[in-house]
Amino acid sequence: MSETTFTPRVFSGIQPSGNLHLGNYLGALKRFVDTQNAGSAETVYCMVDLHAITVWQSPADLKRQTRELCAGFIAAGIDPTKSILINQSQVPEHAQLAWIFNCVARMGWMGRMTQWKDKAGKNAEAASLGLFAYPALMAADILIYHATHVPVGEDQKQHIELTRDIATKFNHDYEVDFFPITEPVIEGAATRVMSLRDGTKKMSKSDPSDASRINLTDDADTIAKKIRKAKTDPEALPSEAAGLENRPDARNLVNIYAGLSDQSVDQVLAEVGGMQFGTFKPMLAELAVSRLSPITTEMSRLMDDQSEIDRILAQGAERARAIASPILQKTYDIVGMVGA
Ligand code: TYM
Repeated sequence: MSETTFTPRVFSGIQPSGNLHLGNYLGALKRFVDTQNAGSAETVYCMVDLHAITVWQSPADLKRQTRELCAGFIAAGIDPTKSILINQSQVPEHAQLAWIFNCVARMGWMGRMTQWKDKAGKNAEAASLGLFAYPALMAADILIYHATHVPVGEDQKQHIELTRDIATKFNHDYEVDFFPITEPVIEGAATRVMSLRDGTKKMSKSDPSDASRINLTDDADTIAKKIRKAKTDPEALPSEAAGLENRPDARNLVNIYAGLSDQSVDQVLAEVGGMQFGTFKPMLAELAVSRLSPITTEMSRLMDDQSEIDRILAQGAERARAIASPILQKTYDIVGMVGA
């Protein structure tokens, strides 16, 4: 364990590989905004375009999706004067540190990552080398800022544990106390938002059914329709969290309600316990529309001025490099590179 006290710094990232959905919003983006506004740590938020290309992205789509994601961050409440807002490839120190970490991490560690197994599937031979090395780049994203805390959804927990393993091994091999042992921050009712069509499957941009997720670009009618059609069971809602056991679809909708309304599941159930879904779903739809529609509207307004988005990203990169560059130089020096 690290003995050095590191200044609190928060880092997190989202892939520009498709539309932002409700899972990204509740599990990540909304919490990024809350952390920024709490003001207790410096916050660095990133569009991870280098991660996105570990699976094929058409160049035009990647550019559009990166700018759209930037617009999404700002529309949701990230203030580029308070947080450092960046696109990964514009801060080359991420990729430079990732190479060092490729030489620290072990093949066996990478092979055990569930996301690798899920994404590579049975045909790992055909997967990109980048997809396999993905978590080492993620560790570099975090550690190039000496970030101490990383807010993420539950699906990223294993990658943060690997980041800790990489930091520990680096510190141990080079006999330094240089990288912090970063804490994952996985908090709140909605750290694992599930598909609206199947409460046992994660809501995801890669699900072929668009009805399985709410996109931040969906209009109010689409959001309401998707919630109306969301899978449920025939029982009324329980009054306590224990009553949601073995009811994945019901639990998911309650978690979403809790996440959107900043309440605990118990607080929500105190209000809606005993209700049928026919009554609860319109309440949830109204809440979702009231929280998401202003973001959607602001996102499309921001997308009308792409040069402003590019200016914000250029400025963010400059601020980020002022932190990242000395950390990279020190890492090179520790590793024994001449000129560092
Ligand atoms: P990505 O782009 O898949 O997802 C971005 C964030 O959204 C969260 N998330 C969810 N949370 C709750 N319910 C869901 N259904 C759901 N789906 C996604 C994810 O947990 C994540 O927090 N590898 C990362 C990106 C990354 C990163 C980093 C994150 C790259 N470098 C460094 C943190 C720190 C990823 O693919 O997230």
